[in-house]
Amino acid sequence: MKGVILAGGLGTRMQPLTKITNKHLLPIYDKPMVYYPIQTLVNAGIEDILLVTGGNNAGDFLRLLGNGKKEFGLKHINYTYQEGEGGIAEALDLAEYFADGESICVMLGDNIIEKNIKKAVDDFKAQGSGAKVMLKEVHDPERFGVAEVGGDNIVSIEEKPQAPKSNLAVIGIYMYDTKVFDIIKTLEPSKRGELEITDVNNAYIKAGTLTYEILDGWWTDAGTFPSLLKASNLVAETGANKL
Ligand code: DAU
Repeated sequence: MKGVILAGGLGTRMQPLTKITNKHLLPIYDKPMVYYPIQTLVNAGIEDILLVTGGNNAGDFLRLLGNGKKEFGLKHINYTYQEGEGGIAEALDLAEYFADGESICVMLGDNIIEKNIKKAVDDFKAQGSGAKVMLKEVHDPERFGVAEVGGDNIVSIEEKPQAPKSNLAVIGIYMYDTKVFDIIKTLEPSKRGELEITDVNNAYIKAGTLTYEILDGWWTDAGTFPSLLKASNLVAETGANKL
């Protein structure tokens, strides 16, 4: 299984912090944000990684990460560039050539977790096809994709609902078979003008091939000022990406 980290977009919600640098290069406690999702994938045994970036400072990722050998013990990192911010699913579409028929584990570049997801990754490998998402109970579900769960299945996912049907957020770690790229090509932009990852996940629900697991340990995004601060505090207090 290959890994894809989505670190595109223009970080417009975080001006002026993102005026002269990319959101994913901002510090989370003692490391740049993008280090955390890379380490999550590496800890799960995924070492063939594509980083999708964008904006004016894309070259800084190369200066920071190089071939990924020193910090992460990788042989190399693959890079590609998203023009504009057409959505998470648009950024993911850029990974089709890299995936080359293999399954992928996708992680949003502003998501940070406490523990290892190796078990979920291994479960998805055993599943063989379809998709898997990871859920986490939160107190502010209206900020996220929210899953309505019935028994062992997710019945539907709503993106940032005003009246959430549960408090289970769909976190930014997604596992897909190669059909994901066919699904993305059928999507229409949402009201916020983006190709939504929630629409991709709902297509897998419709096909009856979406599974889920509840994430163990803490999770946070770092894409707003409060969550950026929260992420730094969590990392300082308890550490991230524990083995
Ligand atoms: O954090 C989890 C949430 O992430 C999910 O619960 C939501 O379902 C999902 O839509 C997403 O919500 P956000 O609105 O918070 O996503 P945001 O626009 O902040 O983008 C998250 C990351 O995705 C960002 O750090 C980089 C990447 N991205 C985003 C866009 C819009 C791209 O690479 N390209 C893009 O065009």
